[in-house]
Amino acid sequence: MLSYRHGFHAGNFADVLKHALLALTIQALKQKDKPFLYIDTHAGAGKYRLDSEYARKTGECADGVVKLWRQAEPPPELRDYLAAVRAENVGGELLRYPGSPQLARRLLRAQDRLWLSELHNTDFAALRELFAGDKQVTVSMEDGLERLEKKLPPPQKRGLVLIDPSYEMRSEYRQVLQAVVAAHRRFATGVYAVWYPVLERAALEKWLREWAATGIERQLRIEHCVAPDGAGRGMTGSGMLFINPPWRLDEQAKVLLPWLNHVLADGRGEWLVHWQVPESAGAEFE
Ligand SMILES: C[S@@+](CC[C@H](N)C(=O)[O-])C[C@H]1O[C@@H](n2cnc3c(N)ncnc32)[C@H](O)[C@@H]1O
Repeated sequence: MLSYRHGFHAGNFADVLKHALLALTIQALKQKDKPFLYIDTHAGAGKYRLDSEYARKTGECADGVVKLWRQAEPPPELRDYLAAVRAENVGGELLRYPGSPQLARRLLRAQDRLWLSELHNTDFAALRELFAGDKQVTVSMEDGLERLEKKLPPPQKRGLVLIDPSYEMRSEYRQVLQAVVAAHRRFATGVYAVWYPVLERAALEKWLREWAATGIERQLRIEHCVAPDGAGRGMTGSGMLFINPPWRLDEQAKVLLPWLNHVLADGRGEWLVHWQVPESAGAEFE
């Protein structure tokens, strides 16, 4: 039984980090003309209204995208992300927010493809409607983690996989790790981006050590906490674990995160850009 609905959280501080890094990754993949496949294993509804009953109930976007919207001089690292948000809000008022599928759709080229999975029937219906008739997009109501391995390697031999679960159940942490290990065995040169919340520090660090112990190279961790760690305080931060991140994503994140920390947390949060497993000498990636 799925109770999580992303509509309650759209545009919050965690979405900002995830989507800004996603936009930078897509920008980097577009440096080569060769087509690539974007896989979103937990796609959600595709896009969201920030004035919906859901969004107003939590008001989470007020501490996220709303703060960015007012900034006169955002860093160039946010260019594509903010352009996609602006494209949803043609009247100039911030009322809509692109989820990862809509953000990716706006940034991908004619030669690229999107495969989106969503299990919740209401969000799946919205997603299917959003991309109805779009030949570049395949929308499936399925377990995106379970199906991932079977989709790889992609026909294009280039791919970006976003794994963005709600972690409603503790078992999801292990399932995500196992799914990526299996996927990486079939498609070792793919770019994998795994979102995670910062809820309980000790459990999170243990999980990240398990990733580091998989033997998979090139693991880059990017994390932003808007509040100090603390049990029972809810989500105090979020991060993305990348496998095979594009060249210079680490450098871009080192510009982006201090700026986000200043704007989203009045400079009082903590950020981290850390290669938890570097590449071994001589490795080459697409
Ligand atoms: C955090 S939301 C996704 C948000 C979206 N990626 C974005 O950034 O806009 C997680 C979504 O995954 C869905 N979900 C949960 N388990 C799933 C599974 N095993 N396979 C596919 N979707 C799943 C939930 O219904 C929810 O809509």
